[in-house]
Amino acid sequence: MADLPSEVRAFVAEQRDGSVDRGLRQLPAGELGEGDVVVRIACSSVNYKDALATIPKGQVARISPLVPGVDLAGTVVEGEGEGSEVLVHGYDLGVAHHGGYAEYARVPREWVVPLPSGLTARQAMAIGTAGFTAAMSVARLERHGVSPDDGPVLVTGATGGVGSTAVAILAGRGYEVVASSGKDAREYLESLGAAEIVGREDIAGDGKPLDRQRWAAAVDSVGGAVLAGVLPQIRYGGAVAASGLTAGVKLETTVMPLILRSVALLGIDSVAAPMEERAELWRRLADDLRPPQLDETITREIGLDELEPALDAILKGELTGRTVVRVAD
Ligand SMILES: NC(=O)c1ccc[n+]([C@@H]2O[C@H](COP(=O)([O-])OP(=O)(O)OC[C@H]3O[C@@H](n4cnc5c(N)ncnc54)[C@H](OP(=O)(O)O)[C@@H]3O)[C@@H](O)[C@H]2O)c1
Repeated sequence: MADLPSEVRAFVAEQRDGSVDRGLRQLPAGELGEGDVVVRIACSSVNYKDALATIPKGQVARISPLVPGVDLAGTVVEGEGEGSEVLVHGYDLGVAHHGGYAEYARVPREWVVPLPSGLTARQAMAIGTAGFTAAMSVARLERHGVSPDDGPVLVTGATGGVGSTAVAILAGRGYEVVASSGKDAREYLESLGAAEIVGREDIAGDGKPLDRQRWAAAVDSVGGAVLAGVLPQIRYGGAVAASGLTAGVKLETTVMPLILRSVALLGIDSVAAPMEERAELWRRLADDLRPPQLDETITREIGLDELEPALDAILKGELTGRTVVRVAD
């Protein structure tokens, strides 16, 4: 316990009679939760789910009070691998177990991923849960057989965390990326490598079970009516990697693209991704899946005391790219 103070600075969300109190507090170190590894946190990040964990109807927080933050990177100060740099994301972190918005976290050692060589803690959190999900989506599409020669790949919610990282990863791998966004963000998306920008309404579809075959594949983190519009536009044998719900959880569609065009709907879950796949994807994120613009275009940085407006903004779909939360110097 050499390095662990008796209290740690933390951003805490606490449910109270239908509302949620959010803010910075001193949390007794003894209340960090179960686990055999203590990490001194360097960085966390802002994900859509983190914002859901701090609102009354978010249906994400399973304990109260909760330190949100579904990902973190830092140095092990107690337990296996003491002194090494690590990252943690998914499982119960920031949901049913205190997460990354604190100076320290105590976690089960089974959750811990060694920081891959070639990534700093800040870069790992610039990628974070959203970027990992983007990488997982690209890897799954490629495992399905999608390659740059197949034609344009659509990315929905393209200015968001998953979306912007997916645009950058795909463009870096030689894909012709078409970015769909509800924002006026041409310059930003082109700087990530998008070949073409389309509005949300351009991909809405006409409601028919089969539409014009436009995309070899799609990375969708939006769900709802957007995903329903995209599926009928996928070319024969193509696939959609679906990870999100910012446009809603309901998917009103038909089986026609699946049974007449062999289109595959690939579900992407980063939370319980098996450790072998998790570690391999992080290794690749430092290498061939590394988003080229990670340090500049994709990322901005805030402190724990700037979290509230960032969480509110991501809920409204107003954040662009990835937001790193700098916890320690
Ligand atoms: N399955 C998993 O393991 C996993 C992991 C990470 C994230 N996710 C999910 O993926 C989604 C994105 O997460 P994120 O952290 O990237 O959030 P984000 O940064 O807020 O990105 C979401 C983007 O979706 C678009 N959008 C927002 N509201 C919309 C609406 N009503 N209709 C259509 N598009 C809308 C916006 O992009 P434009 O303005 O550019 O259109 C927004 O930037 C969330 O649902 C999150 O829970 C899932």
